[in-house]
Amino acid sequence: MKTKIFVTRKLPEQVMKQLNNSFEVNVNPYDRVLTKEEIVTGTKKCDILLCLLTDKIDEDIITCNKQLKGIVNYAVGINNIDVKCATRENIPVTNTPGVLTETTADMAWALIFSTARRIVEADNFTRKGKFKGWSPTLLLGADVYGKTLGIVGAGRIGTAVAKRATGFNMDILYSDEISVIEKTVSAKKVEFKTLLKKSDFVSLHVPLLPQTRHLIGERELKIMKNTAILINTSRGPVIDEKKLVIALKENIIAGAGLDVYENEPEISNDLIELKNVVLTPHTASASAETRIKMGLIALENALSISQNNRPNQIVNGEIYEK
Ligand code: GLV
Ligand code: GLV
Repeated sequence: MKTKIFVTRKLPEQVMKQLNNSFEVNVNPYDRVLTKEEIVTGTKKCDILLCLLTDKIDEDIITCNKQLKGIVNYAVGINNIDVKCATRENIPVTNTPGVLTETTADMAWALIFSTARRIVEADNFTRKGKFKGWSPTLLLGADVYGKTLGIVGAGRIGTAVAKRATGFNMDILYSDEISVIEKTVSAKKVEFKTLLKKSDFVSLHVPLLPQTRHLIGERELKIMKNTAILINTSRGPVIDEKKLVIALKENIIAGAGLDVYENEPEISNDLIELKNVVLTPHTASASAETRIKMGLIALENALSISQNNRPNQIVNGEIYEK
C-alpha cells in the first residue's frame, strides 16, 4: 500500500507526476491557499503533509492526526511551521535548502540593478511613449560597480550574492558571528552598525526568527547612508515595513528592492505609491528549474520519511537522537 501524502498546493507538473508514482496523492484542487480547516481535513486523511510557506502549520494542524509521519516544507524557510511543536510530537520536518541558493541570489541582484538603475520606471517611461531623445539628466540612477555591499546573513544565499559582487569589484561587508563566507570571497567582518553605516547596498539573507524580526527598524535605517539601497529576499518581517516607508519617503535611504513583505500577500498602499522601490511578489526562487528541483528534494524527503529513514534535509534532526 502506498503512503498517503497531502499536498497543499499543486506543484510543477513534473513534480506531481513523480509524487503520483510514489505516493497516494491528495492534492488541493484549487489554485489558492487552503484554509486552516481544509489543511486539517487533508492532514487527518494522510501520513505525510507536504506544505508551502504560505501555510501556517501550527499546533492544531500538527496534532490533528496522531499517525502523521512527517511535515515536508516546499521552501527553505521554515518560519511557517511550529517546529518546536513538531519536535515534541516526534514528527520530522524537512525543507529544501541548497537548490534555491543561486536562483535567489540572482534575484537579489536583479533587485539591486533594477532599483539602482530604475529599470521599472525606465520601462514604464519608454512604453508610455515618453522617450523623446537622449538627455543628460534622464532617469539618473546609482552606480553598482565598485560600491560597498553589506550582506546581512552570510549563509549560503548571502555568500552566493557576495560571490556575484566580486565581478562588480565591490567591497563586501558582513557581520555574522559565524560564517564561512570568507572561504568563497574576500569579505570583511564588521559590526552590524558599521555594515549599515558603510554599505551602499544592504542585502538581507537571514531566516525569520524572533531575534531577526524587525532587525531593520527606524534606528538601523537612520544609520544607513541616505544614498543606500535596501534589498530583501529573505522574509518580510525582518524589516519594520512602516518605518521603511517613512525612511523612503523622507529620503533617509534612497531606495529598496523588495521580494517579501511584512503582511504578505498584503502590501501597504504607501509602499505601492513610492517611486524609489521595486516590488516583486515573493518570486526569488521562481525559476522553472529551481521550482522543479525544490519539488524533487521535497519528494526525496517524503520518501525517506515514508521508509522510516532520516531525511537528508531534516530541520529537527534531534528527534532521531532521542
Ligand atoms: C522561499 O521563500 C523559501 O523559503 O523557499
Ligand atoms: C539558506 O539557504 C541560507 O543559508 O542562506
